[in-house]
Amino acid sequence: MDHFTYQDGVMHAEDVPLPLIAEQVGTPVYVYSRATLERHARVFREALEGVPDKLIAFAVKSNPNLAVLKVLGRQGMGADVVSVGEMRRALAAGIAPEMIVFSGVGKTAAEMAAALEAGIGQFNIESEEEGVELAAIAAARGLTAQCTLRINPDVDAGTHDKISTGKADNKFGVPISEAGQIFGALSRLAGINLRGVAVHIGSQLADLAPLETAFAKLGTLVEALRGAGHTITHVDLGGGLGVPYRVGEVLPAPAEYGAMVARVTRDWGVKLIFEPGRVIAGNAGVLLTRVVRVKRGINDPFVIVDAAMNDLARPALYGAYHHFEAVVPRGAGMRANIVGPICETGDTFAMGRECDLLEAGDLAVFRTAGAYGATMASSYNSRGFVAEVLVDGDRFAVVADRIEAGAIMDAERVPEWLA
Ligand code: LLP
Repeated sequence: MDHFTYQDGVMHAEDVPLPLIAEQVGTPVYVYSRATLERHARVFREALEGVPDKLIAFAVKSNPNLAVLKVLGRQGMGADVVSVGEMRRALAAGIAPEMIVFSGVGKTAAEMAAALEAGIGQFNIESEEEGVELAAIAAARGLTAQCTLRINPDVDAGTHDKISTGKADNKFGVPISEAGQIFGALSRLAGINLRGVAVHIGSQLADLAPLETAFAKLGTLVEALRGAGHTITHVDLGGGLGVPYRVGEVLPAPAEYGAMVARVTRDWGVKLIFEPGRVIAGNAGVLLTRVVRVKRGINDPFVIVDAAMNDLARPALYGAYHHFEAVVPRGAGMRANIVGPICETGDTFAMGRECDLLEAGDLAVFRTAGAYGATMASSYNSRGFVAEVLVDGDRFAVVADRIEAGAIMDAERVPEWLA
């Protein structure tokens, strides 16, 4: 459930009419709802009530906006980060360092040092090589990094290939067949305390079965590691729960996920870490856009909007569906190709889509844009970076300025020898 609803025929974010935001901030603009973020955080937390000892660390990559992180931090969430940039955002939003988990397959030495110095709670080590390097960096500083070893369980998550992370040929984690040996080698090093294992098999999962398979494999591994004399106190189960993008689409509810987790992990006797991203932020945001013009087509007309693939990359990258609706529907429909202004055919949000009847100047939204939306924006075609707004009841604030194309150009230099 979200808080983007029609009131008197006009789409609102909570109690703010979207035309007001368009008028004051311009378009395209991402609009987030605080009440929706809080609701999703609460639902996820309640779904895990059967898990006694846990940390829920929001996957910052899904929406790193400072105000969004502030809202979620106040809901008791920690942060899952994959770069020092994300770590600094989590800290700036007031999230305690011990509630920050550092994942990612390419942590640089400088990033590991910065994270150690910030005192973050956990590193998820992705390879033996990385573990050795982290141990040396920590030992040189007289510090001990708290770590889990990320396992690649070789489970097909059944999601889009580009966001699947748990198959043997994906770059993430160490092969489960070698996990015992690598765990043994790393656990002997000074500078790290290897206290558990981690897994994350992919994103936008529409089925709990692959997750359960991966978790069960992890359970077996935990037993084997304990059998080999290791102390296992933490297991990180990653994120991945899918959300509905289409009207009427039904996905596993957080409560079903929570029940499955509680059942599978009942006897593990560990602290569990969760890294949800999309399920918290996805339906808490829309991308508000204005129709530039409607162009006749051979078949369907092209509705050309002022948002483009540089603002919302998911359709171009993954062929992803984002529901598209008029902000002030006329009560009639049309079949249209929804496209942006960028000069490549990939800048297409939808082909042959049944949608509200739209004319030049109308406002419309792409729904479910709160996760992996603004954060994946670029300035392709010398378009600026899109602005972001957070709504709270009947008030709203710009929480990320639009960065105009001119500001990006200002950061460029022509060398003297070309002048
Ligand atoms: N933990 C790790 C280690 C991850 O790699 C990810 C996502 C998450 C947690 C959060 O997963 P979530 O709960 O959001 O599914 N740009 C793509 C999604 C990439 C996800 C990458 N990793 C998209 O727009 O669909």
